[in-house]
Amino acid sequence: MAADPLFDQAASVLIDRGIDGGIDCAIVLGTGLGRIVDDMTETVSIPFAEIPGFPQGSVSGHAKQVSYGLLYGKKVLIFEGRAHFYETGDPAIMRVPLGLLTAFGSPPLVLTNAAGSLRPDLRPGSLALITDHINFNGPNPLVGDIGDGRFVPMIDAYDPHLRARLKKAAATSGANMGEGVYMWFSGPSFETPAEIKMAKLLGADLVGMSTVPEVILARRHGLRVAGISIITNMAAGTLGGAPSHGETRDVAATATAGLRRVFRAFLTDL
Ligand code: HPA
Repeated sequence: MAADPLFDQAASVLIDRGIDGGIDCAIVLGTGLGRIVDDMTETVSIPFAEIPGFPQGSVSGHAKQVSYGLLYGKKVLIFEGRAHFYETGDPAIMRVPLGLLTAFGSPPLVLTNAAGSLRPDLRPGSLALITDHINFNGPNPLVGDIGDGRFVPMIDAYDPHLRARLKKAAATSGANMGEGVYMWFSGPSFETPAEIKMAKLLGADLVGMSTVPEVILARRHGLRVAGISIITNMAAGTLGGAPSHGETRDVAATATAGLRRVFRAFLTDL
């Protein structure tokens, strides 16, 4: 899988467009979080549509392009928008975007997303570092992969070293960041209150519609990965939670300030 020629083809499009100076960190921006790119300088942006193997998609709040440039002094590649399982039913829809990072020296990867909270202390507008996940949705992006490399260990899938650095960054920047276990639901419908009750019993702190298959793909490629949720709402039926896509997008956009501060401290220190 790691030797997929599509990864090199995709990478060569980026290289042709001037993305050839190395990557210190890669970031996937979730729903409504695109504004972090405003802090980037010397930016080169390429639409997903121009890169072989990249997903095409349509969720509002997602610009769907790759941007490369200097962010807080580091060379950063940002995926502005992702593709979700619920768009096509393919859990490996982010295979090429993440796989091409192997052609750039496998930089650390930070995934961000919008999530619903199951815990009263993880309030909408705050951040949560993902410590572990539950693939409740079920599909695995490595189905059909071959060779022993597909049997990816998932202990410490969320890299402890990156997590420690992100926690430190949150502390030094004064951002409000808790932590918790993220459970993947397929979407695009939100969960029922009964499903959220079940998720709580099974050990979830956060629920969302992305990230889990990306972490599995990233670990398949040996990338060090971390995940940060922006909590946009209380999950269905908890503390009045009645999630909607509009709320998710709007709260994510206003909570970007905290995420920006975390990235500033994290990247400055990297
Ligand atoms: N459930 C699933 N995905 C989400 C939620 C939620 O409550 N909020 C933001 N993304």
